[in-house]
Amino acid sequence: MKKIPVLLDVDAGVDDTLAIIFALLSPLLDVKAITTVSGNVEVQQCTRNVLLTLQQLESVISKLPVVGEGKKNPLQRKLFTAKEVHEKDGIGGATRFYSLKNNHPKIFDAEKIIVKTITSTPNITIIATGPLTNIASIITKHQQVKKNIKEIVIMGGAFDGVHNTGPVAEFNFYVDPEAADIVLNSGIPIRLIPLNVTEECVFSPNDIQKIHNLSLKKYIERVTKFYFQFHQRTENFLGGYLHDVLAVVAVTTPSLFKIKKGYVCVESNGKYARGLSIFFPQLNTKKEAELPEWVKKKLQKKPNVQVAHSVNAKKFKKIFLETLSKK
Ligand code: BDR
Ligand code: CA
Repeated sequence: MKKIPVLLDVDAGVDDTLAIIFALLSPLLDVKAITTVSGNVEVQQCTRNVLLTLQQLESVISKLPVVGEGKKNPLQRKLFTAKEVHEKDGIGGATRFYSLKNNHPKIFDAEKIIVKTITSTPNITIIATGPLTNIASIITKHQQVKKNIKEIVIMGGAFDGVHNTGPVAEFNFYVDPEAADIVLNSGIPIRLIPLNVTEECVFSPNDIQKIHNLSLKKYIERVTKFYFQFHQRTENFLGGYLHDVLAVVAVTTPSLFKIKKGYVCVESNGKYARGLSIFFPQLNTKKEAELPEWVKKKLQKKPNVQVAHSVNAKKFKKIFLETLSKK
């Protein structure tokens, strides 16, 4: 079967790391490149985390993807990190147990890698699991690459009153709302996997016991411990959300998700609502007539996004664990 070519753009925290491992072990994907962006931690640390994860997998995968380091700061704002969730190194303190080999893969510039990979891979899917800074600046500067992108699948945004950063926002959109708005309005097909859906899927210490490869199991235990403890302290369960993994599974197994089409924009000018994602559904004309003018204007726009509004969490978990547990 022909594999789906993908590029991962990550801010290599704990769930990004699980997403990378899943993507590299999935028989359905051909991961061409992994690029990093500041978010959970600073971009240099994200790059080191990606290299360390690749090091854990080099004996089980045939070809390592190229790695590119991207933007240090959001388009217009100061960086806001999530070290209280992912620990100072972004992967739960696991870096103190390992050292990067001197012969690790070369680190390229993310912009060059993204443009080169898209140009040489017609129909590529981009999976973005961090702030959208790299992707927004590339599609603004290199309009010609847009036609080669089949789709961008994004972990980001939140609806139905769910939020994890500030009173109304999801972290990736909060960190760089301007970038998120540019990408959503780029005209490229977008699938959004928002926080209210990703919070339906949880990983726990028991799940890790199902992984056969002992060194990978140890690595995942070390990466997730701090993240699990964070959720125990703040949300009262020992485990953690698999946010970014869902964006990868949305590419391998789209049928697990129920989707609504609509117009989504992200608040960047608001005084109180930084990063808020707003969904304008397609309405029937009768309902539309009762709406204020500014809402009607948005509704008249073509839907720019397909938004996941539910996931089959049981099947998702099965696929995730089976892929990680391959002997
Ligand atoms: C998102 O924020 C980050 O902390 C996670 O890695 C995920 O991409 C969830 O809001
Ligand atoms: Ca992330």
